[in-house]
Amino acid sequence: MRCSLPDESRISQVHLRTRNIDGVLRFYSGVLGLKASHGPASQVTLSALRPGPGLLVFSEDRNAAPRPSRSTGLYHVALRYPTRIDLAHAYRRIVRAGYPVAGSSDHGVSEAIYLSDTDGNGVELYADRPRSQWRREQGEVAMVTTPLDLDNLMASSRPATADPPGPPDLGHIHLNVDDLAVAERFYSEFLGMAVTQRSYPGALFFAAGGYHHHIGANIWAGKTAPPANSVGLISYRLEVPIAEVLYCLNHRAPLLGYEARMERRAENSILRLRDPNGNWLEVQATSNAVLAGPGSPWAGCPQEGRAPQDSSEQQKSAQP
Ligand SMILES: [Fe+2]
Repeated sequence: MRCSLPDESRISQVHLRTRNIDGVLRFYSGVLGLKASHGPASQVTLSALRPGPGLLVFSEDRNAAPRPSRSTGLYHVALRYPTRIDLAHAYRRIVRAGYPVAGSSDHGVSEAIYLSDTDGNGVELYADRPRSQWRREQGEVAMVTTPLDLDNLMASSRPATADPPGPPDLGHIHLNVDDLAVAERFYSEFLGMAVTQRSYPGALFFAAGGYHHHIGANIWAGKTAPPANSVGLISYRLEVPIAEVLYCLNHRAPLLGYEARMERRAENSILRLRDPNGNWLEVQATSNAVLAGPGSPWAGCPQEGRAPQDSSEQQKSAQP
């Protein structure tokens, strides 16, 4: 049975491998202004605020293999700014830093600027238009690609301000995959995202809660898998507001042929799922996750290893 992911589900973190963490810091911290905190084993976490949740994690491996130019993996990671003024402000910082911009597009639902980081990973900076302005056609969100009016965007920001732009979050991740039908089976039929657009050539877009997309998948870079230790994507994390989603997916994954590993923690378990292209998708419940209410399709899954709860706790936790 296909269960729709809860509306508030979202991509919360992306983990990448790099050969040069200094370059990572120069771009993400020096140019984009993200806050860096250093962890164990040559690892750095980049957040929008300090303290704040890590949006991007980089692990350094000086012996990492280069990612082939045409291979499956990360197409881009997308940092979403709260408003177009914040996006304009971020763009102004990039121009002032002299960092090359790869392109810009108006997608109808959003305005976007594209760059590559110092490892060649695609990075999108964007701001959504209000949902009330999104066009929907035949059950799909109408996303287009037209030139971005940069002059109009820049006119919305104050040139002299030295304040940092409003903090971004992770709006979506876009992947190079080898097979769209296989991707749809994984992200939609198994994971529970809706297909929000299937008319874009060579691409599919998936989302929860009526968003335009949390995950994009395209076949534009061929079918070759990169070396296991290549620069680029290691894992990406999906945050869900209902705890049982992890148990349901963990139960169903082997039935559909997907590899799943539950890492149980006292505070917050993580379910690791191997996506069809070999990347790890981590599913984690939010810190304020609730239990699925009566009638929820997520309520009936076996919760192996989970401490039983008495009925009063379950009642309390299920309140909005
Ligand atoms: Fe994107």
